[in-house]
Amino acid sequence: MLMHEAGADTKEDSMPERRVFIRVTNLEASYHGKPAVRGISFDVGEGEQLSLLGPSGCGKTTTLRCIAGLEKPTAGEIAIDGRIVYSAEHNIDVPSERRMLSMVFQSYAIWPHMTVFENVAYGLRVRRTHAEAVRARVTEVLRMVGMESYIDQPATNLSGGQQQRVALARSYASLPKALLLDEPLSNLDARLRVHMRQELKRLQRESRITNLYVTHDQEEAMALSDRIIVMRDGLIEQVGRPLEIYDTPRSRFVADFIGAANILAGHALEHRPSGATLSVGGARLACAPREDMPIPDADGNYLAAVRTVYPELRRERGDGADNWWPGTVRERILLGDIVNYVLEWPGGTLRVHGFPHTLFCEGESVWVHIPAGRAILIDADGD
Ligand SMILES: Nc1ncnc2c1ncn2[C@@H]1O[C@H](COP(=O)(O)OP(=O)(O)OP(=O)(O)O)[C@@H](O)[C@H]1O
Ligand SMILES: [Mg+2]
Repeated sequence: MLMHEAGADTKEDSMPERRVFIRVTNLEASYHGKPAVRGISFDVGEGEQLSLLGPSGCGKTTTLRCIAGLEKPTAGEIAIDGRIVYSAEHNIDVPSERRMLSMVFQSYAIWPHMTVFENVAYGLRVRRTHAEAVRARVTEVLRMVGMESYIDQPATNLSGGQQQRVALARSYASLPKALLLDEPLSNLDARLRVHMRQELKRLQRESRITNLYVTHDQEEAMALSDRIIVMRDGLIEQVGRPLEIYDTPRSRFVADFIGAANILAGHALEHRPSGATLSVGGARLACAPREDMPIPDADGNYLAAVRTVYPELRRERGDGADNWWPGTVRERILLGDIVNYVLEWPGGTLRVHGFPHTLFCEGESVWVHIPAGRAILIDADGD
């Protein structure tokens, strides 16, 4: 079983079972004896869009370069399309050019002294592809990225976004088995990045090629991925579909790195398999069950994450017995499309993300509701 499915939320969210295309097993890599990747294992399904997401220095690029054959791991195994391309144990190390992958870098790495055509055709020409076939393929991939009218332009005449399109076209041209993309949009300005993100999404849909995408931008990972691997300090912190990672973070790190969350500390009042009720300050907070966690010990200390978008603010108390409290708005910051509140409630302070259609004033008494399914037990902070 490849997918780590925890039950799809909606029909659209359900994913096909995929054949494993890239398998990484216990991968370790170091620079001058200092570990950068500390024993990670994951699969990329055929046609899957998988992202490695994590803060700077967590080992994303190193992992990608090991798969591409540009960096030599210190331990572990990498298989592509069922064939082992690296194995420390069996002393296998297939050279990069025979791994049939294509890599797209942050710095587009297109050659300024060549035309757009020559840039895209380069890999095909090296392989001595017939001139007519080269022309046809280059035209086809340039059309995919909306750059066919620039085919004979010198590459120096292009904007950053256009250069990145040419770099993408070049990576598609040689019909790689998979694309490895390392922060391909991070050199672009914010507006262009959002635009290119949509373009990439379209290209992914059209080409259906397996993509392993490295980014430290959570929005990019959410928007472009079937699954996300959250990395931290050379290790995998959590793997899941974007919504799964967002809605059920397993640790404070994931809760903070993706989206925004309140982390509430409490002790368990009830001991039952269906979830836990925590005492948080003076509040009884019913939390969602967490299948992979032992039944909470009564009186044990636990942490719950509550995303700032999920508490509901009302002027009247709503229905339901659980998780309604009186509170007071202490701070309101109006940001346009969204409104950030800091609320005082029996559990302490709570950050809440609201919308301008209903505005509450600073000092106003409100009712706050945290749906029990939105209070998520997370791992105790280990380090
Ligand atoms: N060529 C190198 N020589 C020495 N140390 C390196 C080298 N490349 C990376 N490292 C170190 O390895 C660790 C992982 O680096 P890596 O480039 O894989 O991180 P990253 O997740 O891609 O970060 P970023 O988001 O900044 O690109 C870091 O501590 C980094 O300093
Ligand atoms: Mg990097």
